[in-house]
Amino acid sequence: MHEIIVGLDERSYPIITKNGVLDEAGEIIKQRFGMRRLIIITDENVYKGQGERLKLSLEKAGFSPVFYILPPGEATKSYPYFEEVVEAILAAKIERKDLIIAFGGGVVGDLTGFAASVVRRGVNFIQIPTSLLSQVDSSVGGKTGINSPKGKNLVGAFHQPILVLIDPTVLKTLSDRHVKAGYAEVVKYALINDMTFFEWLEINADKLSSYGEECAHIITTSCQHKADIVAEDEKEHGARALLNLGHTFGHALEALTGYSETLIHGEAIAIGMIQALNFSKKLGYCTGQDIIRVQSHFEKMGLPTHISSIEGYEFTAEEILEAMYQDKKVSDGALTFILTKGIGGAFIQKNVDPKLVLEFLNEDMKLSQTT
Ligand SMILES: NC(=O)c1ccc[n+]([C@@H]2O[C@H](COP(=O)([O-])OP(=O)(O)OC[C@H]3O[C@@H](n4cnc5c(N)ncnc54)[C@H](O)[C@@H]3O)[C@@H](O)[C@H]2O)c1
Ligand SMILES: [Zn+2]
Repeated sequence: MHEIIVGLDERSYPIITKNGVLDEAGEIIKQRFGMRRLIIITDENVYKGQGERLKLSLEKAGFSPVFYILPPGEATKSYPYFEEVVEAILAAKIERKDLIIAFGGGVVGDLTGFAASVVRRGVNFIQIPTSLLSQVDSSVGGKTGINSPKGKNLVGAFHQPILVLIDPTVLKTLSDRHVKAGYAEVVKYALINDMTFFEWLEINADKLSSYGEECAHIITTSCQHKADIVAEDEKEHGARALLNLGHTFGHALEALTGYSETLIHGEAIAIGMIQALNFSKKLGYCTGQDIIRVQSHFEKMGLPTHISSIEGYEFTAEEILEAMYQDKKVSDGALTFILTKGIGGAFIQKNVDPKLVLEFLNEDMKLSQTT
C-alpha cells in the first residue's frame, strides 16, 4: 500500500494506491469515517466492469450502497446530468455528514465532485478513479465542474475530496485507447520538472499494463507531483498553471473536433505537448534533441504527436488561435502558455504575442505536409 497526503491543512486527504484496494473500500471507509449513508455515482461502463466489486465490498462492511449510473462520455458532464445527479443525491437523503462516492473516470469525478460541492452547500466526497487519466490527474486536486455549450469546464468549483482510493487493477477493463491517453498526463509531470522520471519512463513505461510495481510507480509518482503542486497553489494563482503544459494547444484541438471520440483529451494534449515543445524551440528556449526524444517516446507508447494524425483534420491556424481565445486560461485577452527549456524545464509565459502563435501554427501545419 502506498499513501500520499495532499497537504491542505484541515482539508488534507490521503491518496491510497494498492492493487485490490477496491475490494477493501468498504472497510477503509468504515474505519475512517464510520457508518454513513452512501451514494455512488458511476457510469455504465465502469459499473459493468467494476461495479460488483465495489458493491460487494461496501455491503460486506455493512453499508447499504445506492448506485446512480450515468451514460458514459463527455456529454454527461453537462447541465442536464448535473441536475439529475443533484436530485439523485437528494432522493437518497444524503445529508452533510454522509458520503458521496465518485466511481469512474474524469467525467464522473468532475460531475460528482461539482454536485457534492453544491448539494446542501457541500457534502464530503470520495474519489475512486477508474481510468488512468483520473488516477494520475483528475481525482486529485479538487477541480470539479461541467462543460457549458460555450466551452469545456467553464462551470465548476474547487471542492477537495476527503479520500482518494486508487486500484490499478481496475484498468484491466479500461480500453487500450484510454490507457494510452491517460499516459499522456503521466509524461506531462516528467516534462514539467522531473527528468529522472522521464528517463525511468523511457525504460519502464511499456510495463504499465502489467499492473505490477511499474504501474504503481507510474501512478504514485504522478500523484505525488500533482499533490505537491496542489499543496503549493490550490486555486491556480501560480505554479498550478504548469499542469496546463500542452493544454492551451490541446484544448483548442479538442474544441475544433467537438470534444468527440475523434480526439480524446490525452491524445489532444500529447499533440499539444509536442506543439508546446516546438513553440518553445521557436522562441529559443528548447533544443530539437529533447523534442525528438519526447516524440519518439510518444510514438513508442502509441500516442499521436502531430495534428495531421487527427481524422478529418482540416482546420486552419487562425481557427486554432480563435479556439485558444475561448479557453479559460485567457486573461484580459492575453494568452498564457506553458513553455519549456527542455524535458523537466517547464515555465509559465504570460502575454504571449498572438502573432507569434499564429506564425508558429502555420509553420507547424506545414510540417504536417512534409512528414
Ligand atoms: N478535475 C481535473 O483536475 C481534471 C484533470 C484532467 C482531466 N479532467 C477531465 O477528465 C475528463 C476525462 O477523463 P477520462 O479520460 O477518465 O474520461 P471518462 O471519464 O470519459 O472515461 C473514459 C472512458 O472509459 C470508461 N471507463 C473508465 N474507467 C473504466 C474502467 N475501469 N473499466 C471500463 N471502462 C472504464 C468510461 O466509461 C469512459 O467511456 C475530461 O472531462 C477532463 O476535462 C479533469
Ligand atoms: Zn489534461
